[in-house]
Amino acid sequence: MCGICGFVGTGNIKEILLKDLYQLEYRGYDSSGMAIRNNHKISVFKSVGEISYLDKQLKNIEIGGSCGIAHTRWATHGKATLENCHPHLSNNGKWAIVHNGIIENYLSIKNMLLAKGYKFLSQTDTEVVVNLIQDNDNVSPIRAVISATKKLQGSFALAIMNSERDVIYLAKRTSPLYVAKTSNGYKISSDISTFFGCSNSCFILQDDQYAMVTSKSATFFNQNGEKIKPIECDVKSSSLDNMTIKEPHYMLKEIKDIPMALSSTYRHIMSTIDEDKIRKFCKGIKKVCIIGCGTAYHAGLVGANYLEKVGLHTDCYVASEFRYANHKIDKQTLYIFVSQSGETADTLACAQYVRDKKCKSIAITNVVHSSINKIVNIVFPTTAGKEIAVASTKAYNCQCLAFYILACIMKKIKYQAKCEKLIKDYSIPKFDNSLVSAIKNSEKVFFVGRDWDVVTCNEASLKLKEITYINCMAIAGGELKHGTLALVDDKTLVIVICTREHIADKIANCIHEIKSRRGKVILFTTLDFDFGEVDKIIKLKSYKNDFDPITTIIPLQQLAYYTSVDLGYNPDKPRNLAKSVTVE
Ligand code: F6R
Repeated sequence: MCGICGFVGTGNIKEILLKDLYQLEYRGYDSSGMAIRNNHKISVFKSVGEISYLDKQLKNIEIGGSCGIAHTRWATHGKATLENCHPHLSNNGKWAIVHNGIIENYLSIKNMLLAKGYKFLSQTDTEVVVNLIQDNDNVSPIRAVISATKKLQGSFALAIMNSERDVIYLAKRTSPLYVAKTSNGYKISSDISTFFGCSNSCFILQDDQYAMVTSKSATFFNQNGEKIKPIECDVKSSSLDNMTIKEPHYMLKEIKDIPMALSSTYRHIMSTIDEDKIRKFCKGIKKVCIIGCGTAYHAGLVGANYLEKVGLHTDCYVASEFRYANHKIDKQTLYIFVSQSGETADTLACAQYVRDKKCKSIAITNVVHSSINKIVNIVFPTTAGKEIAVASTKAYNCQCLAFYILACIMKKIKYQAKCEKLIKDYSIPKFDNSLVSAIKNSEKVFFVGRDWDVVTCNEASLKLKEITYINCMAIAGGELKHGTLALVDDKTLVIVICTREHIADKIANCIHEIKSRRGKVILFTTLDFDFGEVDKIIKLKSYKNDFDPITTIIPLQQLAYYTSVDLGYNPDKPRNLAKSVTVE
C-alpha cells in the first residue's frame, strides 16, 4: 500500500533514504524511487521491483543534497512500470511528490488539468496531485499544497518537495504519516519503526493536517493554514522487534517467535488491562460484533467461538462487506475490531462508522500507535512484535489468545493457569518435509474440517495460496458432498484437521468419502480416534478445546512456508500483495 519517507538535514541522504525504504518495503515492493534536491534542482531516481534494485542502481552514484523524499510502491493506479514509479514531478519540474493512498476523484481533476494543457507521463493518480499543486502555486508553497489537497477526495499521505528550498511539505488524510527530530535533522515516514534508534519521540499527523519540515524545525498547520500544536508520542520498539535474523526469511523467524509472542501478549495484557474497567465498559452488552480482514478476520472467527462459548452471542464480519451492508448499529452491541497493523482501510472505516454512532468499541491490535487505536474506546493489545513477512503468522496466534483472554475477562472466568500452562509447555513442532512433496504432487489441494477447525482450514488455505500461488480452498466437512466432492480424484490432496472430539466420527465419514474417490488424505489431529484409512497422520499436542485453534495452525503455517521455499519463491514478499492494506 506504499510507504513514504523523507529526510532534511546533514548526512548521506541517499543512504538514509535507502535504509528507511528497506524498513518500509513490507508496504509494497512493485517499484521504488527517491527525489533529492541539489543545486536548486530535483533529481529523481527510480527502479522497478524490490528496493535492492534501486540500491544497486545507486551504488556508484554520488548524490549530494540535504533534502529528499522516497517511496516504495504497491501498484493501485497503473502497472508496476518505471513511468508509474514515484516520485512524480510536476510539468514545470519544480515540485516532486510521493504518495500513499488513493485519490478517488483523480480522473475529473486530470481532465481539468489536461484542458489547461498539462501533460501526464504516468497512469497514476499521484501525478495528477503534483500538477494540481503546480496549478495552485500562486501563494506560499504550504498554501499551494493546502489549497490543492483540499480539492482531493480519497486517502493520502503526501510528502512534497519544491526545487527552491530544502523543505518537505506534508499532507495527510486517512493514510498514516509521522515526523521525528533526529540528531542531524528531521525524518518523515509512513511508519514509526523507521525512527527506532534515531529518535525517542515523534509527531503524528492527524487527518487534514499539514506540516512544513526543514532541517531545524517542523511546523504544523490545519486546513486554514493556521499553526497548530501536533500530537506527540513515544518511539518505542519492543524486545521482539529485533530486525536482524538468523533464519533465511522473516516468515520463518516469525513462526519461531510464536511461543515468545504468546507469552509477551499474555503478560502484557495481565499487566496493563484493568479487568474491572473492561467489565464495567461491557455492562449492558447483549451482543458482540467482530470485524476484520484476511487473517485478522479468521482470528475474529476464532474469537467469536470463544465469546459464544462464554455465552455472548457473537457475529463476525469481513470489514469490506460490513462497510456497505447497512447493518443496524446499536448501543447494546460491542464492536471489536481486529487488525495486526491497525491501519487496514476497510477496518478503520468500520471503526470510524461505529464511533460516529457513539457505540462501544474495542481494538485488538499489534501496533501501539496505529490509527485504529485512536478511534476505539479501548485497546486490547497483542505484543507479537513487528511482523515483517507479508503473510501474517505470529500476530494471528496472539490475536486468538487475546480473544480468549477478553472472553474470560468479560465473564469473570479464570484464564491465568491455562495461559501459563500453554506458555510453559508449547514449543514449535519439527516440520515433516514429506508434506511438501505431497502438496507438490497434487493438482488440487483442499482443507477440510468442522466446527472451529474450519477456521483453521481457512487460515491454512489462505497462507498456502498467498505464498505458493497454489489454488486451494477450505471447506466445512459437512459441505463436501454438497458440491466440492465432484472435484476429488486421484490428483487431489485433502488436508483434514480434527481437534473436536464430538464430531470426530463425522470427520471420519468425510475421510471415507474422499478415499472412496481416490483422493489423498493427510490428517492433522490432536485426537486418539480411529479415523479409518488415511495417507498420513500428523499427531498434534492437544490443548483441550481452549487453545487448539492457536496451536493447530502452526504446522500449517510451516507447511505454507516450506512449500513456498521449495518452489523457489520468496515467502516474505508474495507477488501482488503488501503487508499493510491502507487503501480500500
Ligand atoms: C494474510 C494477511 C492479510 C492480513 C489482512 C489484514 O496473511 O496478512 O490477510 O491479515 O490484510 O491486515 P491487518 O491485520 O493489519 O488489518
